[in-house]
Amino acid sequence: MIAEIAFASATCIVFVGLVALAIVSVWSGGKAAELPVSAGYGEASRTLAVQRPRALWPVKSDRRARSLPPDTMVRFAAEREAAGIDEVFAALDNDLVGLVPVKRKVQEIAALLLVDRARKKFGLEAPRPNLHMCFTGPPGTGKTTVALRMAELLHRLGYLEQGQLVHAMRDDLVGEYIGQTAPKTRRALDRAMGGVLFIDEAYYLYRAADSKDYGQEAIDILLQVMENERDKLVVILAGYKDRMDGFFESNPGMGSRIAHHLDFAPYEVDEMIAIGRLMLERARYYLSEDAEAAFRGYLTRRMQEPRFAHARSVRNELERARLRHAHRLASEPDRSWSRDDLMRLESVDILAGNADSLPTPDRS
Ligand SMILES: Nc1ncnc2c1ncn2[C@@H]1O[C@H](COP(=O)(O)OP(=O)(O)OP(=O)(O)O)[C@@H](O)[C@H]1O
Ligand SMILES: [Mg+2]
Repeated sequence: MIAEIAFASATCIVFVGLVALAIVSVWSGGKAAELPVSAGYGEASRTLAVQRPRALWPVKSDRRARSLPPDTMVRFAAEREAAGIDEVFAALDNDLVGLVPVKRKVQEIAALLLVDRARKKFGLEAPRPNLHMCFTGPPGTGKTTVALRMAELLHRLGYLEQGQLVHAMRDDLVGEYIGQTAPKTRRALDRAMGGVLFIDEAYYLYRAADSKDYGQEAIDILLQVMENERDKLVVILAGYKDRMDGFFESNPGMGSRIAHHLDFAPYEVDEMIAIGRLMLERARYYLSEDAEAAFRGYLTRRMQEPRFAHARSVRNELERARLRHAHRLASEPDRSWSRDDLMRLESVDILAGNADSLPTPDRS
């Protein structure tokens, strides 16, 4: 009898123990799964770290273990090839006419990072360079295009884990009512983690005259993340140079976090003609001599007008020219046209002299 009671109570204790263990493990597992992706910045980054177990930088012991012997020599041609960055520079050169100072600056940033990488291989520790940037220039001067290439470059060099570019404007970051701004800004930051957050016309974030505006709240969150998460995210602010200078004056904290300023100068007429030629070549069209003269005249006039958007205006006008060319050819159904006719744009196609019903000259 005593033995039976003892056996029953031992079974009972083991059972209670097992149940307690199961409850503890379910509870703790549930807790981990519950971590919200965008609840507070610290939590969000912890969750992201769980989702991306591969560390961007090897942990210290790893680095020491992998350090090159001190007498090893490095060649940067080989380093560039290993990272595959020459392709990025080739794409920059092929896609973008001119922009020599911008391309030079991109090369300088790449050089800084190549040397930083090489030093790390020897175990020469240094804080990660600040990579937040500011791209200034008028519309249509290639800022977004270069930002995309920059994201690719930083990814290939191992400074961004994914290298995606998230484009944001004021409305993507700032709410209209209380409580909307922080979640909006954090959502954009979460999407950009591992890549670039490109904030177009960043000065609209700040409205000095409006004390009820929530822009400052977005700026404060950005400042904090640009400092604390700078090894996971690069912020590029873009816009007109004078307005951006004003923005940095009113927000010195933002100015001091920007390490690289790239200035995109307005294009000269000759550069825009070259850009137009490149665009047409890609589409297998070309301008006749008269058409090129007409296009030059058109650009010279348009450059003086408001809302002129440089290379974007070039693209838009050439698309309209293509429409007019098609209309001109198709409106004579019984005439025979050669291969060359199908490729050649004439001055009437630029000037819209023959088709009033087609889109009017460029206003963008
Ligand atoms: N130097 C260039 N050579 C060839 N194409 C160019 C050049 N600069 C810009 N483009 C083309 O012009 C268009 C507009 O460029 P992009 O969007 O990069 O300009 P942006 O400076 O970001 O303009 P916005 O300030 O209006 O956003 C794109 O199609 C781009 O490929
Ligand atoms: Mg742009």
